[in-house]
Amino acid sequence: MAKKNKKTQKNKSKKTQPKKGFHFEYDEALESTAVVKLKKKYGLFIGGEFKASKSGKTFKTENPATGEKLAELALADKKDVDSAVQAAKKAFKAWSELSGKERGKYLFRIARLIQERSREFAVLETLDGGKPIKESRDVDIPLAANHFFYYAGWADKLDYAFPGKKIKPVGVCGQIIPWNFPLLMAAWKLAPALAAGNTVVLKPAEQTSLTALLLAEVIQEAELPKGVVNIITGEGKTGAALVDHPDVKKIAFTGSTDIGKTIAKAIAGSDKKLTLELGGKSANIIFEDAAIDQAVEGIVNGIFFNQGHVCCAGSRVLVQESIKDEVIAKLKKRMSTLRVGNPLDKNTDVGAINSKEQLEKINSLVAIGKKEGGRFHEVDCALPKKGYYCKPCFFEGQTPASTLSRVEVFGPVLSIMTFRTPDEAVKIANDSNYGLAAGIWSEKSSKIHKIASELKAGVIWGNTYNKFDPAAPFGGYKESGFGREGGLHGLYPYVEVR
Ligand code: NAI
Ligand code: MG
Repeated sequence: MAKKNKKTQKNKSKKTQPKKGFHFEYDEALESTAVVKLKKKYGLFIGGEFKASKSGKTFKTENPATGEKLAELALADKKDVDSAVQAAKKAFKAWSELSGKERGKYLFRIARLIQERSREFAVLETLDGGKPIKESRDVDIPLAANHFFYYAGWADKLDYAFPGKKIKPVGVCGQIIPWNFPLLMAAWKLAPALAAGNTVVLKPAEQTSLTALLLAEVIQEAELPKGVVNIITGEGKTGAALVDHPDVKKIAFTGSTDIGKTIAKAIAGSDKKLTLELGGKSANIIFEDAAIDQAVEGIVNGIFFNQGHVCCAGSRVLVQESIKDEVIAKLKKRMSTLRVGNPLDKNTDVGAINSKEQLEKINSLVAIGKKEGGRFHEVDCALPKKGYYCKPCFFEGQTPASTLSRVEVFGPVLSIMTFRTPDEAVKIANDSNYGLAAGIWSEKSSKIHKIASELKAGVIWGNTYNKFDPAAPFGGYKESGFGREGGLHGLYPYVEVR
């Protein structure tokens, strides 16, 4: 296996070759990038074809693990957005009138093609976004395929999903997604919309559009009718043009709370439907009767998975005072085993920060945490010289008023607080502008259920964290947004119920 890898690595283009000099270097463990055939320039996917932007303008996407450019992407402006919306509008009648069974067949086909090309998707996801290959390979890509499988199953069962009701698809849906789970978020958005008979214009994040464009190839290969899915690349302005387009009947957005608010204002008073999946500052609550070693794993997975670029990250740990010292000591020990570095290394636990801007944001928040006087601990490791990296770290002795207990960092930075009683834990956990997720660790399931019923959070895990399943609805309260994605609930925003 190792030999074969070395051979294929020789054929790689220089650009995509993983660089040497990382702290944790396991040559034979490096995933080969030969499976990915990067193009120099990528077009917009409109009406089933790839085309240049009308203005000819482009922007670059880079590999955050090295800071090097990967490719140029077409920059869609208002006119391109209009072309994509018109293509989706044209395709709507036939697609919405197709039987659910036939629509389901296309979704099954897309799901299978993602599985067939999963290695290519995984390597490309890691190259473009910096997440560890083991996460792209074992989490993002399989889950994306599973979302298509799951909603393929609903396509011909909509009468059972809405018993006794007449339903109609909404029309052209505009979907705007972030950079932290690029392919997975595309799947979350596309699969329910298509199952319910809508057509779509999707805009991936400017930092990580490549797997969405590979998905466009898969969609072509699946022979999905032209215009049912259109994928346009661009920046915030492109997203805003999609939001403002009068023929778009629904907007689904995942991203920052600030932009979520901007979008809500922009469509207020229009006939557009809206779902927002925004930020979080989720509490991971560890009770003294919890299995401590497992809880420590849950803390690590909660905050360091995907470098902490996770909307539902367990970024506030609330630990019962009686076990605080033990938990902190075990956490430090466990963190010292984390491998930080080259995302293409199969042994890497924490990869690259998604962009220079995000790294700067994280660093400035860590500086604020230090200024406020929290006890700071970070993993003692060397970081790669090139690219954007951040040492996993935590602040101890935080209060609910500390900046790092309130502001979403979206990086591998944890805020730790203590509590004495279950009531106090609930009070601190709910003391947040956000309400996306929570974790509860205890040996008593009755306690977990009681605490869960008192938390204002959309997703609550018991004795685990960051577990995702297409059948489980996901979404938040308060400034974490509204509407649910996944499960039966995920169909609601994509239908008109009569
Ligand atoms: P962002 O919210 O600006 O970007 C998300 C998506 O929205 C991208 O596709 C972007 O092009 C698009 N967009 C930007 N401005 C828009 C507008 N006016 N109208 C329509 N679409 C627009 O997030 P950004 O700047 O990449 O990250 C900033 C912070 O947001 C992060 O540090 C993190 O705290 C938070 N964030 C949260 C996410 C989550 O899943 N909850 C995902 C990404 C970022
Ligand atoms: Mg990139």
